[in-house]
Amino acid sequence: MTEQARYAGSGESRGDLMTAVKREQFDAARDLPRYLPQGTEVEMFLRAHRRRLPVLIKGPTGCGKTRFVEHMAARLGRPLYTVACHDDLSATDLIGRHLIDGSGTYWSDGPLTRAVREGAIIYLDEVVEARKDTTVVLHPLSDDRRMLPIERLGQTLKAPADFMLVVSYNPGYQNLLKGMKPSTRQRFVSLRFGFPEPMLEGQIVAGEAGADEATAERLVQLATALRRLKDYDIEESVSTRLLVYCAGLITDGASPREACLSTLVEPLTDDEETVAALMELVDAAYPHTDHS
Ligand SMILES: Nc1ncnc2c1ncn2[C@@H]1O[C@H](COP(=O)(O)OP(=O)(O)OP(=O)(O)O)[C@@H](O)[C@H]1O
Ligand SMILES: [Mg+2]
Repeated sequence: MTEQARYAGSGESRGDLMTAVKREQFDAARDLPRYLPQGTEVEMFLRAHRRRLPVLIKGPTGCGKTRFVEHMAARLGRPLYTVACHDDLSATDLIGRHLIDGSGTYWSDGPLTRAVREGAIIYLDEVVEARKDTTVVLHPLSDDRRMLPIERLGQTLKAPADFMLVVSYNPGYQNLLKGMKPSTRQRFVSLRFGFPEPMLEGQIVAGEAGADEATAERLVQLATALRRLKDYDIEESVSTRLLVYCAGLITDGASPREACLSTLVEPLTDDEETVAALMELVDAAYPHTDHS
């Protein structure tokens, strides 16, 4: 039986029947990267993989996009290639190039070609950053043709069933020039990630940082207050990643106020007035801490 068939048959896809905690024990038993779902994204990803559809994940920084893809790749038993896209990343970087060594020229596969050949999962992180010529490569691969043309070799590869293209971006960083074209966006099954709801975020923070529940709960409450704050020049509010950092430092013995300043406040802004305003919320959350 294939990996997929095993999952489908295990009843695991009935996420509504399984609490986050049970799922976590289940994942740990299988040694998967730990991931607590925000909704039905796990089931949707498994379906997309079965139907050979590419997936686009959008969401703010530190909300679990990378962890989710790592978890899904392990769950499907597929190798994962991750490419951090940047404004110089070209189609050639993805596909491959001829290189020269002492014995002459040879072809070197780029990560996309390797992933297609191996039936792996390729994850293009911050895909909107990549150069526009990459869309020429991604379009035939992300629609029903599932083809990768390698012009320089005069070859076209047909992606095997297990191959999957996953891309992500942060809508908060988008500008008009860099936005994705509708013809690209409409080739993907799109999943929107946000901050997890408080109870779930508490479980994530406690589990990731090895912190006790009370510490995690209090930090999530503080994060909720920080995220509500509007009238300040904060590009993006506090992420789950930063809460995990903070809980880790507190568990390691740091004073909550110092830990919050270094992980929940300073990373958000350089403006001292904004720091002071955010620290008022921290002090309200930890009223009995030494403020000297
Ligand atoms: N649902 C989740 N389950 C388990 N851990 C999570 C979850 N969401 C966030 N985390 C924790 O938050 C950290 C940051 O998540 P991750 O690196 O996946 O964010 P991201 O969305 O990829 O961010 P970026 O856009 O900055 O790359 C993880 O290392 C993990 O500790
Ligand atoms: Mg990431």
